[in-house]
Amino acid sequence: MTTVNAPHFVKHQKLIQWVEEIAKLTQPANIEWCDGSEEEYQRLIELMITNGTMQKLNEDTHPGSYLANSDPSDVARVETRTFICSEKAEDAGATNNWEAPAIMREKLNGLFNGCMQGRTMYIVPFSMGPLGSHIAHIGIEITDSPYVAISMRKMARMGKAVYDVLGTNGEFIPCVHSVGAPLAPSEKDVAWPCNDDKYIVHYPETREIWSFGSGYGGNALLGKKCLALRIASVMGREQGWLAEHMLILGITNPQGKKHYVAAAFPSACGKTNFAMLIPPKGYEGWKIETVGDDIAWIKPSEDGRLYAINPEAGFFGVAPGTNIKTNPNCMATLHKDVIYTNVAVSDQGEIWWEGLTKETPSNLTNWKGQPHTGTEKAAHPNARFTVSADQCPSIDAEWENPAGVPISAFIFGGRRADTIPLITEAFDWVDGVYKAATMGSETTAAAVGQQGIVRRDPFAMLPFAGYNMADYFAHWLEMGEKLQNQADHNLPKIFNVNWFRRDEKGNFVWPGFGQNMRVLEWIIDRCEGNAEAVETPMGLVPTYNDLNWQETDFSEEQFKQVTEQDMQLWLKELESHTTLFDQLGERLPKSLKHRQQTLIKAAKAV
Ligand code: GTP
Ligand code: SPV
Ligand code: MN
Repeated sequence: MTTVNAPHFVKHQKLIQWVEEIAKLTQPANIEWCDGSEEEYQRLIELMITNGTMQKLNEDTHPGSYLANSDPSDVARVETRTFICSEKAEDAGATNNWEAPAIMREKLNGLFNGCMQGRTMYIVPFSMGPLGSHIAHIGIEITDSPYVAISMRKMARMGKAVYDVLGTNGEFIPCVHSVGAPLAPSEKDVAWPCNDDKYIVHYPETREIWSFGSGYGGNALLGKKCLALRIASVMGREQGWLAEHMLILGITNPQGKKHYVAAAFPSACGKTNFAMLIPPKGYEGWKIETVGDDIAWIKPSEDGRLYAINPEAGFFGVAPGTNIKTNPNCMATLHKDVIYTNVAVSDQGEIWWEGLTKETPSNLTNWKGQPHTGTEKAAHPNARFTVSADQCPSIDAEWENPAGVPISAFIFGGRRADTIPLITEAFDWVDGVYKAATMGSETTAAAVGQQGIVRRDPFAMLPFAGYNMADYFAHWLEMGEKLQNQADHNLPKIFNVNWFRRDEKGNFVWPGFGQNMRVLEWIIDRCEGNAEAVETPMGLVPTYNDLNWQETDFSEEQFKQVTEQDMQLWLKELESHTTLFDQLGERLPKSLKHRQQTLIKAAKAV
């Protein structure tokens, strides 16, 4: 057996024992304890260039940046292979895949047995949240993928210092990852090893994560969706906080008054773009700053407010659609030291994806490594960039403050061609929770499966809640109730947005991106009590004149199109919520069922 040989900076006996156990099970050819150094990063990149996983991009236009192309079968999260293995099936709930822990352990023991043969096992220490802060949680990911090891260095606080925080007996979340492709002694490796059989398994009670068969994104970078959402949501429920699929941004008006908001949009529905928004013409003196683009951990404070931190250290963002007009802050973030995955590349070593430029460059090699002919997409629709957050020009000064930033509003938004208006404000906390709980959105390329199908995606957390969704709703209701009972509370208001209404031709009516600022301004004004709203069956809404239309020709007619309320469609929508509620069964909070009836009544009364 390969010896584990822990380096001097690892002083945690239980951790070393666990690594020994996993090594014994998976039988790697080598073991490497990652220290997070620049030397290590470069060495792993070189290794991946040699074995064909990565290629270096043009050093003049993309300094320090690389491209990896995955296997065409391993391009997104696999929700059907993601499991919550709580002791009791009811604790995972109807919206999660469940298997009994004992049965799953036996299954995984079989799969992991010898699965790292011929490969190097990397031990990757990381902190979700600022290193050493009271709010952070530490994970150790054992992986046989160098791509995962270097990606974790950008996405989390990764390196030797994590062991100092852990000391001799600190708590950590064990994460075991294998691409599931052992190599026989003389077998030649492939550029992107993976396995058709995939398992992304969470044990919420023992706080363990096991992932097999994929090297891509949320399946493999276990700090992100697995730890910071699925496991953290379970911890949050027990300890009285929230782990959410939310961006966090700061908005400052010309007078210098600043608010922070957190927004939950499902995967590939606009979080990164909203988090980095640049105010459009007519908004001189306004500022948007980025705290996070995907995950928020939110805790109540003594002062009656909710405070949010971004537990991540990088962005794993959707490439297609990103360009200098839609997201200039993002393009600036990508000026150096980026790992791209599944984008196209020119023979000059320059990256390209659909939507980057109007013209498609000639001599492109597509994400599958073939000449781009125009019949297939050049970049995979879920092609991504991995980049450190501190490279973002709009990064907020408080983004690493362990105390977090105070949240004034929660915004929820799905991708809906019809039914849901551009903007509504919830009547109160329960109404807001109801609307977030029943949010629908068209499926996207971020997960394997059919796209463009409207499904319920409660709180944009359908794939990420680590426990029963009905209990999750109850937790949200309780968090609000507790805060409201505090003498001088400041409960965030709740809003719903939809940037994705389409006309008869299928075109988006709302210009989106920077123009979303107009909606955000109204939201902030509502929080300050400075804006009008009209009461409708769907919620409180602005009229055309309540929004700021300076320097735009967006007409009142177009505004009507994006804010139109079709009561027939809304009634159908409300009634369709019964399917989710029935699925969730007895544990569904009564107040939500009650809320559904009230909203149906109001819609019928029109
Ligand atoms: P995940 O990383 O999967 O969680 O996605 P996300 O929610 O961060 O979505 P992102 O901001 O990366 O946007 C996904 C896609 O939607 C990209 O192609 C964007 O160009 C597009 N998009 C984002 N915001 C808007 C908008 O306001 N309007 C329109 N029409 N498209 C948008
Ligand atoms: C998402 O799908 O919501 C993502 C990408 O942010 S992944 O990290 O793959 O989950
Ligand atoms: Mn996401």
